[in-house]
Amino acid sequence: MTTDYDSLSPDRTTLSRLLGYMLGGDNRARSVLATAARVVAILGLSALPWITGQAMNVMNDPSGTTDELNRWMIAGLVAGVVYLVFSFLADRMFSRLATTALYRLQTKLFSHMQTLSMGFFFKNPVGQLTSRITNDSEVVALFYEQGVGPIIRAILQIFIILIVMLLINIPLTIAALIVIPFLIGSMYVVTRIAAPAFALLQERVGFVSGFQAETLDGHKVIISKKRQAWASQEHEELAGEVYEVGRRAFLASLMQFPLTQTLILIQTVFVLTAGTLMVIEGSTTLGVVMAFTGYATLMASPLGQMSNLVSNALNAIAGGERVFEVIDEQPTVTDASDAVEYEFKGGRIEFTDVDFSYVPGRRVLKDNTFTVEAGESVGICGPTGAGKSTLINLLTRYYDIDSGTILIDGQNIESLTQESLRRQIGVVLQEAYLFTDTVMNNLKYARDGATDEDAITAAMKANAHDFIMELPDGYDTMMTERGANLSQGQRQMITIARAMVADPKIMILDEATSNVDTRTEKLIQDGMRHLMDDKTSFSIAHRLATIRDSDDIMVLNGGEIVEYSPHDELMAAKGFYYALYMSQFKGKAPGGEAAADIDFVST
Ligand SMILES: Nc1ncnc2c1ncn2[C@@H]1O[C@H](COP(=O)(O)OP(=O)(O)O)[C@@H](O)[C@H]1O
Ligand SMILES: [Mg+2]
Repeated sequence: MTTDYDSLSPDRTTLSRLLGYMLGGDNRARSVLATAARVVAILGLSALPWITGQAMNVMNDPSGTTDELNRWMIAGLVAGVVYLVFSFLADRMFSRLATTALYRLQTKLFSHMQTLSMGFFFKNPVGQLTSRITNDSEVVALFYEQGVGPIIRAILQIFIILIVMLLINIPLTIAALIVIPFLIGSMYVVTRIAAPAFALLQERVGFVSGFQAETLDGHKVIISKKRQAWASQEHEELAGEVYEVGRRAFLASLMQFPLTQTLILIQTVFVLTAGTLMVIEGSTTLGVVMAFTGYATLMASPLGQMSNLVSNALNAIAGGERVFEVIDEQPTVTDASDAVEYEFKGGRIEFTDVDFSYVPGRRVLKDNTFTVEAGESVGICGPTGAGKSTLINLLTRYYDIDSGTILIDGQNIESLTQESLRRQIGVVLQEAYLFTDTVMNNLKYARDGATDEDAITAAMKANAHDFIMELPDGYDTMMTERGANLSQGQRQMITIARAMVADPKIMILDEATSNVDTRTEKLIQDGMRHLMDDKTSFSIAHRLATIRDSDDIMVLNGGEIVEYSPHDELMAAKGFYYALYMSQFKGKAPGGEAAADIDFVST
């Protein structure tokens, strides 16, 4: 897919990159059209004061006729209709541009996050990362929806009105412009106070929601009373800070409205004074003076809005910078200079003597050798820290191994491009990442060019269709912050449906259903079966019931594969797996789901 709306030239500013998503690429023609419609609308608007003034002149003129007056009234009507119709068209087109811009940015962000190493997530606590993505893409969304269009309108209006005024009467134009420097000056001062406060506010909000997300997600960790007290005190301090910063920001922005109103009044007084003198002198007509009071307002009002628009843009730049930080984060592993595309031939995977360590000298995986046949499903279990996630991340080549080889369909992964490899491997993690957007768009982010039908088909397969249809607006229901209006299980079903939209050839579920109740898990698994049917798949789970039906089960302990066989054989062998299984189902009928929530390892 072309991404010429965000070419990676290093000296592009955040603003121009943000705008690129909205106005660049195949949106270019539409943005030119939208701007043209806006120009026509403003021309219609700028004709109105002139027409009103001329009509007044006719009324003032003893020799003026009703015919003449009627002509001006019709002219006024036409100008008004042109203004309304073209404003509507321009608004519609800009809002379409805004929607595609946000869609492009979030798709890019999402697909890029898929390519980032676990190391990146390791450096960025999950809470902070999700809050970054939701809060920052929300301010960027606000900029696209309510910033770009109005800024273009304001700038065009200022210039067009200025030209019209200069064409009609230069001295009156000067009288009207005297206050402009003061208007800009006051705006500048207010923005200087408000904008930094807003930026700080946003950062603080990010902190707080990051903290909330973490303490909530980590609620299992914060169990001791002492930790609980610490968490709530910390939260109170953070929230207090947000209140203080927010107060400053809003106070500054409140000052601004009365200030601009006063200046606009002063401007009208200037125009009327200069105009009256010129009328008495006979160098202009009353109608022109009246027209100029109109122009002065038409000029000042976009200027007055400018400070809000500028602070909206500054906010978006601050948010955009953090979004681009994620987008620009480079994967830790680089492609070989002669890397070739991965060629899918069924998905057979072969690890031979694989050793791996994150930190030199501290081996996390030791001598791992195993083969997964094409289309086979493998369940992986083992204590926390055994190396399950690490093993899977090596397959997608998030890290290079110390020694050994990893072949996929006979091709050494070190000789493949990461992009071609990861495009074929879908990963669903424990934490569901949902954007503040509609269900439909959240599904479509998986693949550039995915259609509504693709999304709905995937949702049906994932067993998510029924509950989505029961949401207030079905597929058009907006997800609130991080999908908080859905249950965890529902969020995860959407994530899984999203993975299906991408239609990967190999699936990896890393504790994807760990936070979901067993009934929902069953529903998800029924859905997954469609997806996994003929695909090679890995499913890491700490509830053994989740992976019992896999073709093979791999038991990892201390970085080594201790067992690798189907469930029945492992049970018969009465080894490590058998012990884990029995400890999970202790006291329950074999195969019972009730006890399946118990972790086999207390962490
Ligand atoms: N990005 C990382 N940097 C350094 N050490 C890591 C990183 N990720 C995991 N580890 C360590 O590697 C070991 C295996 O972790 P992991 O594969 O996540 O285990 P599991 O998924 O089985 O719980 C653990 O000791 C963990 O602390
Ligand atoms: Mg793990």
